[in-house]
Amino acid sequence: MSIYTSGKTIVALLYPLLKAVQVYDVNNDVVINTAKKFVAFMETLFSTISSLEFVRYRDYIFFNKQRLKYEIDSYANLQFLNSRLKILRIKSLTFLSGIKHQEIIDFAVIFKEDKVTFLKQFVLKRYPHIKVEFLKAGEEADEFMEDGKFTKRTYFKALKVTKNMMQNLWSGRPVDVKSSRRIVYNLVDTISRDEFGILALTTIKNFDEYTFNHSLNVGILALALGQRIGLDRRSLARLGTSGILHDIGKVEISKELINKVQKLTDQEWETLKMHSNFGVREILKTRGLDEISMIAITVAYQHHWNYDGTGYPLREKEEEPTLFSRVVRICDSYDAMTTARSYQPIPYLPHFALRVIWSNQNRLFDPILAKVFTQLLGIYPVGSCLELNTGEVGLVMRQNPGNIGSPIVKIIVDRNHEKTDGRTIDLAMEVQTKIVRPTYPQMYGINPSAYFL
Ligand SMILES: [Fe+2]
Ligand SMILES: [Fe+2]
Repeated sequence: MSIYTSGKTIVALLYPLLKAVQVYDVNNDVVINTAKKFVAFMETLFSTISSLEFVRYRDYIFFNKQRLKYEIDSYANLQFLNSRLKILRIKSLTFLSGIKHQEIIDFAVIFKEDKVTFLKQFVLKRYPHIKVEFLKAGEEADEFMEDGKFTKRTYFKALKVTKNMMQNLWSGRPVDVKSSRRIVYNLVDTISRDEFGILALTTIKNFDEYTFNHSLNVGILALALGQRIGLDRRSLARLGTSGILHDIGKVEISKELINKVQKLTDQEWETLKMHSNFGVREILKTRGLDEISMIAITVAYQHHWNYDGTGYPLREKEEEPTLFSRVVRICDSYDAMTTARSYQPIPYLPHFALRVIWSNQNRLFDPILAKVFTQLLGIYPVGSCLELNTGEVGLVMRQNPGNIGSPIVKIIVDRNHEKTDGRTIDLAMEVQTKIVRPTYPQMYGINPSAYFL
């Protein structure tokens, strides 16, 4: 069994134990059997590994140095472990060979307590096979602000590749889809290493170069959603490419029409809708056609197909959009709603766009994907501006995987409505600070993405 699978299994076995001690007496059979199962599995690992170490860093959980991904089957377990470790201010938790079920039960009992009680109990009672390292004062707050240089570099490299590819198609020069493959794999790696960091960069919405940023943002959102539903690396690369290329057919439509402010005539609307068909043609034109291109063709054709059978281009009743098309359908709508366009000068607030997606599940969007997408972005997605009960305005910098209603925010507007370079607060930890309502960054002359660069 790989380190990764072992880590996921331990977390999966620990979760029911932590829950069981909340419900049952410690001498109850359920508790004892769950603990025995947990210890028995660890013993099988101790034959080859001497210690099993969980580290919490930037809201990610690492097991023996491997990051455990938030996937659909492990989401609840990991999220629970993460939030407990966070509340108890534990940086690392290590289990050593020789641990017995009684020791882990005792530990599970104090693990559900608050920080002070936990600390007292942990010191009082000896835990010879469990090592705990605590965060130092102030260590947590700046952690996640650390500049993700690699993440940014990948984003801008990907933007350049996207731009080149589209400009080449525009001017009739041949493009090589394979050249984009490397950058897509870089994105896949970045998503698995730092999904929160790269998602923050999708708040970059460049009005003048809308299509490039939009295409890349859709690719990144699709990758993040794909990772959550457990797609492997190869599938992710295909999905990411398809996301980036979804609107490629727009290169055949005049920029005047794409940027038109006034209401479109029926004729113009029909022309615009043709971009789904044109996409097929554009991808077929590229050099080095392979399986990835074929999948991208399908997504370009289907990305305006709705879940209930409506949408365009028209289709036969029994034709259904592929999983990738359904993923891109959601990510495309979300990014389009949250971006300023000539005909939509004030974009939707991110949380409102999510609500639109939520309320249109079954009709426009795949309901399961809509749910995972909401879970991924949180109630207030990164880049949202929030009015707080302190009179300040905070910018959402990061989600709390354990608590999607209480993100980590940076104060960017003070009580006097002045822009400020304020402190960073974790709303899940500083419970006296509350969200009053989301607000428009434009009201304060703020461009949220500037804070992520
Ligand atoms: Fe489109
Ligand atoms: Fe689009």
